[in-house]
Amino acid sequence: MPTRRSLRVRPLIVGAVAAVAAFGAVLVMPDANAAAGTLGAAAAQSGRYFGTAIAASRLGDSTYATVAAREFNMVTAENEMKPDATEPQRGQFSFNSGDQIYNWATQRGLKVRGHTLAWHAQQPGWMQSLGGSALRQAMIDHINGVMAHYRGKLAAWDVVNEAFAENGSRRSSNLQSTGNDWIEVAFRTARAADPSVKLCYNDYNIENWTYAKTQGVYNMIKDFKSRGVPIDCVGLQTHFTGGSSLPSNFQTTLSSFAALGVDVALTEVDVTNASTSQYAGLTQACVNVPRCIGITVWGVRDGDSWRSSESPLLFDNGGNKKAAYTSVLNALNAAGPAPTTSPTSPGGTTSPSPSTPPSGTGRIVGAQSGRCLDVPNASQNNGTRVQLYDCNGQANQAWALSSSRQLTVYGNVCLDAAGAGNGSAVQIYSCNGQANQQWNVNSNGTITGVQSGRCLDVWGTGNGQQVQLYDCNGQANQRFTLS
Ligand code: G3I
Repeated sequence: MPTRRSLRVRPLIVGAVAAVAAFGAVLVMPDANAAAGTLGAAAAQSGRYFGTAIAASRLGDSTYATVAAREFNMVTAENEMKPDATEPQRGQFSFNSGDQIYNWATQRGLKVRGHTLAWHAQQPGWMQSLGGSALRQAMIDHINGVMAHYRGKLAAWDVVNEAFAENGSRRSSNLQSTGNDWIEVAFRTARAADPSVKLCYNDYNIENWTYAKTQGVYNMIKDFKSRGVPIDCVGLQTHFTGGSSLPSNFQTTLSSFAALGVDVALTEVDVTNASTSQYAGLTQACVNVPRCIGITVWGVRDGDSWRSSESPLLFDNGGNKKAAYTSVLNALNAAGPAPTTSPTSPGGTTSPSPSTPPSGTGRIVGAQSGRCLDVPNASQNNGTRVQLYDCNGQANQAWALSSSRQLTVYGNVCLDAAGAGNGSAVQIYSCNGQANQQWNVNSNGTITGVQSGRCLDVWGTGNGQQVQLYDCNGQANQRFTLS
């Protein structure tokens, strides 16, 4: 049994040359200077999304719908998936307007974030009048009912919204009065209800790192991660009003949350008078943090905003681009490609450049083993780990790299990282548009996870060797050819 070290140090110059040659034959290198012309496309260059809140009642407005579909690749329902909308009577769920937004978005290739499951506000009347164990059970039932409807369909859920007070303690609410564990109960319930969707905590006034509320939320996330409470992301609403503007330490806040092992996202951005410098700065802070996965503005045109008198958005009432739009687009376009090295990996790894995907399907062959990336027994079950196996030309070894950097097999099942750390399993899972299912196929033969920055890696060369994530090390056991 060869040791890991012996695999790493074995010189495989021939394999490396072959890998580069093979990629060169089938892939076209992207133009590093190409600037995308829409917010969504510009964000996608670095593996991120750019979204907007959508109100179902406005979708009939052609200017609104045209701008939204053109510019954004992620959508949040502004009010239509909140508890008062989705469970107006206890046990009677209503998804009409939520589905209207979901269908409108997905028919245009836009992904959808769910907002929100447990919140002190916008509760239906029957829920507002509950307390104690009855409210706790109602919250659990609500999460189960709504998540069952959208199971497997959404990119993320804001499971809990705005649960902290400005002083960093828990906000007093009927939910809080059911017991301090209500938030973790919500997250555990959500994970069981839909294991495929990212689970987020979402709040406002948590952008300034030194602010008490930021620290309160940070400590909760840290505690959840240490105790295994399922949580995948933190949404920073980023409502910058006259009294709350872009803090100079915003990037520190994002990277500090990310260092806990969660994704971060800016989920409801709007800025008083759409300050170009604040919009550019908040965008730059996100693109500087590898685990900042996307930005959502809270509405399309100024007049669509809950703060319309402050003209806080990127389009004016006529649907024209404002100066802030250009500052955001430029910051997105200036961002490099998706991160390819782990922020925690040791220095010395190179940053290979992602390549444009080929069309059609092909094999992914290990440079060291000559064996193919294979789904055991042609399984289509979520969670099946992929392995190396003798190439056989069959469907369980036929992969396609999509323009959104998904590696798919059987047409619609995605290569998926079960975690982001060293040794995380690489498996198949229903495609959900998330960063753990996005891959950069690099010119040096490595395939790196957009979420983790780590490389596809195998410990050995034989049939059945499982594929995992590992810090990129430049060795042949992390190089593959697509053919
Ligand atoms: O649809 C009814 C309409 O029929 C009625 O005539 C009218 C009378 O006031 O109200 C309309 O509903 C309003 C709804 O927006 C749709 O426009 C509600 O009153 C109003 O309260 C509601 O406001 C929403 C607010 O959340 C409620 O908390 C905003 O649209 C929405 O942008 C805002 O979003 C929140 C996020 O969910 C969480 N973070 C803060 C953010 C801004 O407050």
